[in-house]
Amino acid sequence: MKVTSYRKPDSGGFAFTAENEAQADAYIARYPEGRQASAVLWLLYLAQDQNGGSIGQEQIDYVAAYLGMAPIRVHEVASFFTMINERALGRHHIQVCRTTSCWLRGSDEIGKACLEEAGIETFGGTSGDGLFTVSEVECLGACANAPMFQVNDRDYHEDLTPETARAVIRALREGGTVESGSKSGRVSSEPPADSRRTLLADAG
Ligand code: FES
Repeated sequence: MKVTSYRKPDSGGFAFTAENEAQADAYIARYPEGRQASAVLWLLYLAQDQNGGSIGQEQIDYVAAYLGMAPIRVHEVASFFTMINERALGRHHIQVCRTTSCWLRGSDEIGKACLEEAGIETFGGTSGDGLFTVSEVECLGACANAPMFQVNDRDYHEDLTPETARAVIRALREGGTVESGSKSGRVSSEPPADSRRTLLADAG
């Protein structure tokens, strides 16, 4: 059932497009009446998308009013999840995973290579040409293909080495198409061809 007991925001600088408003209401309708705040992450993501990839106080206030929440509570959610950006980013957002599997497989070196190749001093920074932002994030769920990074909330580049990480960034800079997926030739996360075996073979 559609929730209708919350106040819609007063008109201000930012407002959902008609399409996004319908989408926001569809998200809210997934939750029981009185629990519309559960849709906050969905609405933040919509606002971010509409706002060109990041949000500011205006979008936080808008989402808060839309859901009948205190803005500080919306900010708490926005600042916790790395999928929400409270600052403008470069055209390509490189999110380097640094959690255990990736770390054990060399994510420190991947991160360093990304910063150097993009021309950025510290994580979270944006290159002078506005092309790249490089961030460190926690596990992106591709642990079997560690180390990896994600580009623009969409493309996973896996089984990286510092060289292949640099090559992805160079290709993005040149405006080329960069195929996502494993850089070691794996189709998904199967073992390397020379170490595949079956239980039958193990049983002799
Ligand atoms: S540890 Fe990097 S994707 Fe899970």
